[in-house]
Formats: sequence, C-alpha cells, structure tokens
Amino acid sequence: MTQDEYANLLYVVTDRVAWITINRPDKLNALNRATIDEIARAAGRAASDPDVGIVVVTGAGEKSFVAGADIAEMSTLDALGAQRFSHRLNEGFGLLEASPKPVIAAINGFALGGGCELALACHVRIAADRAVFGQPEVGLGLIPGAGGTQRLQRLIGRGRALDLILTGEVINAAEAMRIGLIERLVPAAELRAAVTAYASKLLAKGPLALSRALDAVYAGGEMALPEALRLEASLFGLCFATDDMREGTRAFLEKRKPRFVGR
Ligand code: COA
Repeated sequence: MTQDEYANLLYVVTDRVAWITINRPDKLNALNRATIDEIARAAGRAASDPDVGIVVVTGAGEKSFVAGADIAEMSTLDALGAQRFSHRLNEGFGLLEASPKPVIAAINGFALGGGCELALACHVRIAADRAVFGQPEVGLGLIPGAGGTQRLQRLIGRGRALDLILTGEVINAAEAMRIGLIERLVPAAELRAAVTAYASKLLAKGPLALSRALDAVYAGGEMALPEALRLEASLFGLCFATDDMREGTRAFLEKRKPRFVGR
C-alpha cells in the first residue's frame, strides 16, 4: 500500500487500484481550486504508475461524493476568473477521461453539479443506493461548467440531459440507473466491495486491450461512422502486435487463465 500527501484528497494504491478520495467532508467534498489541481495531479500520477491498473474516484464520509464546485469560492469570481475556473475543471476532469487505465466513479452520496460532472468524466459509474444526482446550477443563476452540458447529453441523450439541466432537479440512484446516468447500483454498505470486485474483473483483462478499447470508444465516438470504424480496425490490428494478445488467445486454446504482462 502506498499513500502520498495531498491537502484535499487521499491517494492510496491497494492491489493495483489507485483510490482517489476527495477529502473535504465538512464541505461535502465541494471542489475548490486547490482540490481540482490535486485531482489533476493524482490522475497524472495514477496514469503513469506501472503499479496501477485501475483508478477509482470517490468521496470521503458517508454523505457525499462531491456536492459540486465550491460555491463560496466561486461566488467571488469575475467573468474571466470563472472562465479560467471552468478550464481548470475541464483540464483536471479531462485527465481522468483520457486515462489509459479504466477510471471508476464510486458514487457514495451527493453527486451534484461538479460532482455529477466528475462522475461523468469517469469511464464507469457505480453508485450506492443513497446517492443523488443533479445539475442544480441554474438555481444559482449559472450553468454547468465542468462538462455537464456536453458529457451528460452524450451519455443519456439530449432530451434527458436538458430535463436535468433546465429543471435543476435532483434524482435518486434508481432513477439515475433508469435513465442510464450510472451503470451499476448497489447497497451503500456494499459499495467498496462492489467497486473492488469490478476493478478485479478488469485487472484480469489485458491492460493494453482495455486502453485500446477506451481509445476506440472515446475517440471513435466523436467521429463519423466510416472514420470511426477505420480507427477501430487500426486499434484492433494494433492489439495483434502485443504479447498479451498472443497470450490471451493461446490461453483460451490451452483452456487456462491468461497471464497478461502489458506488452
Ligand atoms: N460549495 C461549498 N460548500 C458546500 C457545497 C458547495 N457546493 N455544498 C455543501 N457545502 C457546505 C455547506 O455550506 C455546509 O458548510 P458549513 O457547515 O460551513 O455551513 C456543509 O457543506 C454542509 O452542507 P449542508 O448544506 O449543511 O448539508 P445538507 O445536508 O443540509 O444539504 C446539500 C446538502 C447537498 C443538499 C446542500 O449542501 C446543497 O444544496 N449544496 C449545494 C449543491 C449545489 O448546488 N451544487 C452545485 C454547485 S455549482
């Protein structure tokens, strides 16, 4: 197990899983600038650490994943400062989304505003049954500024995204599951075990294949279909240049479990 010092988050690696825990529970883990910078630093660190295969983002305490951007800090910004704040959020969240290793959001409670957007920037969302979701920004006289107007509609469709963004309504985890905002829903007491089991499942796969799959889905998803299919073919072909692909297919034929080495 390794741990490093951050003021606003915990970074712990256990069994090849880097757990990034936003740690301002007295402010329901609201994101101030310092926390956003630490998320970016932790995301970069996990991406480059060969001992990390999977990244998990979660919130400290029982109550909240992240209750949004820090409203107290945000309230002091002028227009240019707010634009810079939004860029900063996009850079930090962008590093998570661009991670070559799968990033799982373990949503343990409030995922509001920037918290919902943080979950959207992760590759997979696993939520506790007590979690609640929403983009309440219009109630503050502003709009989502950390990717919410873009990633939400790409995940759940424009109509449902607008429904959430325009009403600012908060929905429970069951409703989030129904509309495709999360992928898994588990009892709160089982969240950590469920995320650990999910991570173990991915750790048993070829890491280069996981990375290529993320690339194909994310980069291809922004392209026209013919171009995207060409990208998929190239990335598919690239897999055949790896020892892992040889090992994976050989292990199947020899009726044994593969031993992937990430080459
Ligand atoms: N920014 C800054 N501080 C926040 C915050 C945020 N987004 N969300 C919660 N906090 C702080 C509260 O100000 C309070 O601090 P204090 O004890 O110093 O007064 C502390 O966290 C606890 O929050 P509180 O409101 O007392 O908890 P609650 O259980 O009554 O309500 C929420 C929980 C999530 C419903 C409520 O905190 C809330 O509406 N938060 C803002 C959500 C939001 O609009 N997010 C989008 C921001 S763009």
